[in-house]
Amino acid sequence: MSVSREFTTSLWMDFDVLSAAPRLANDETAGTVIVGSGIAGFSTAYELAKRGQDVVVLDRGPIGKGMTSRTTAHLSPICDDTFSALIRIRGEEAARVYHESHAAAVDRIEAIQNAEAIACDFSRLDGVLFPALGAEPSVLDPELDAARKLKVPVKDTKGLPFEGLSKTRCLRYPQQATFHPLKYLRGLASTIQSGGGRLYAHTTVETVAEDGDDVVVTTAEGKRVRAMSAVIATNSPINDRVAIHTKQAPYRTYAMAFTLPKGALYDALYWDTLDPYHYVRIHPGIGGSDHLIVGGADHKSGEADDAGARYDALEGWIPALVPSLKAETHRWSGQTLDTIDYSGFIGLNPGDKRVYIATGDSGQGITNGALAGLILSDLILKGENKWASLYDPSRKTPSAVANFISENVTAAKNFAEYLAPGELKSVDELKPGQGAIVREGLQKVAAYRDDTGALHKRSAKCTHLGCHVHWNSLERCWDCPCHGSQFAPDGTALNGPAVAPLAEIK
Ligand code: FES
Repeated sequence: MSVSREFTTSLWMDFDVLSAAPRLANDETAGTVIVGSGIAGFSTAYELAKRGQDVVVLDRGPIGKGMTSRTTAHLSPICDDTFSALIRIRGEEAARVYHESHAAAVDRIEAIQNAEAIACDFSRLDGVLFPALGAEPSVLDPELDAARKLKVPVKDTKGLPFEGLSKTRCLRYPQQATFHPLKYLRGLASTIQSGGGRLYAHTTVETVAEDGDDVVVTTAEGKRVRAMSAVIATNSPINDRVAIHTKQAPYRTYAMAFTLPKGALYDALYWDTLDPYHYVRIHPGIGGSDHLIVGGADHKSGEADDAGARYDALEGWIPALVPSLKAETHRWSGQTLDTIDYSGFIGLNPGDKRVYIATGDSGQGITNGALAGLILSDLILKGENKWASLYDPSRKTPSAVANFISENVTAAKNFAEYLAPGELKSVDELKPGQGAIVREGLQKVAAYRDDTGALHKRSAKCTHLGCHVHWNSLERCWDCPCHGSQFAPDGTALNGPAVAPLAEIK
């Protein structure tokens, strides 16, 4: 019996990007085959198609319904891990290039939606960093110093439009932006198709192999696409077994949307200095209302299953700042892949000549994805790009060794869980809607009882590198804490790097 994932729904997830995309039913050839139809895959396909390349895009699910549909859509060139930390790890010149390239990504999105007449609610606005409640105003000093060193436009000012914070110090960064991510993807899809590109949904790629001067990707149904280059833009790369996955780690973030009377809050991207930080954004609604999005409460994927408490914390924080807030309309979560040196991996997959990857969004998935389009199209068509070395997936960053060790402890600890008892003594204790790990003899079983009372059992061993999966009761799926794979209750792989389903229990 097949059990679909019972995901929460983001503010834009119901928007249809391209429901008519077929499965890949025949072998194809292309200039470039792209795996993944989110912002990184579509931005790359768009740039290549506009420059005359023949592209094929494949996605294992519906078009545009992966992590891009779960973003909160901030378009910001300000480093998510802070510029002071980026300078410490990679130096001033790298941080300057980071800002320049991410600002170019925002500019590129603005230019594309203008050129292609994509109605995607794009707007420019300020970004505002403010001290976490109770923190001293001086907590902003390192970011002000870093911005000045890098010549990032910033204003050191006072006054937030939040209740009780009208005299609070904040840093105001101009020229940030926001948009509706799926309306933008739909516009890209239409342009890619007009240029002859083919888009295939519900097509799972199992292998990616270089073959002489070509690359061949093969699907679970045995269909093949032969191309001169391949781009793997699957959030976490499905083609790379180890190298990249030791240099990035999956984190889960939580978001909620509320109705807000139009004009009740000055429109900007707000975030505070807490770790993990809170963020607040506004998305235009219809009639007299907008949506206020609030998020934060992040944790490493699979290392906590307490979404209720995290939403309670967000709900306890935002109404005091924005008393005019009305009813909650949505709550959802998404996954980011944070790299050990705070910038994405965009370029040739380590060891390959024709296979490229885009991953490691580090909390900036939209700008990282648009940037992937700029960098990868240059690398594929010209063999060079001026920002490529900063994002080179093969780079080594000796100053990030402490982050490397702390992120890889997860995998080391995880394997010890195979020796531990199950969370329940028996599957008989499972209530409808509940999932838990149960020991049956020598094996650990990922067991789930659906709302009708039917029981679904799969091996608890992740099919990427064998880590022990954990139940995610909010999204009703199995999360792997090691590198971010997710599996539906019936074992189907939903998010990379895993491709194969959790094994059946005999
Ligand atoms: Fe790598 Fe599970 S995602 S072991």
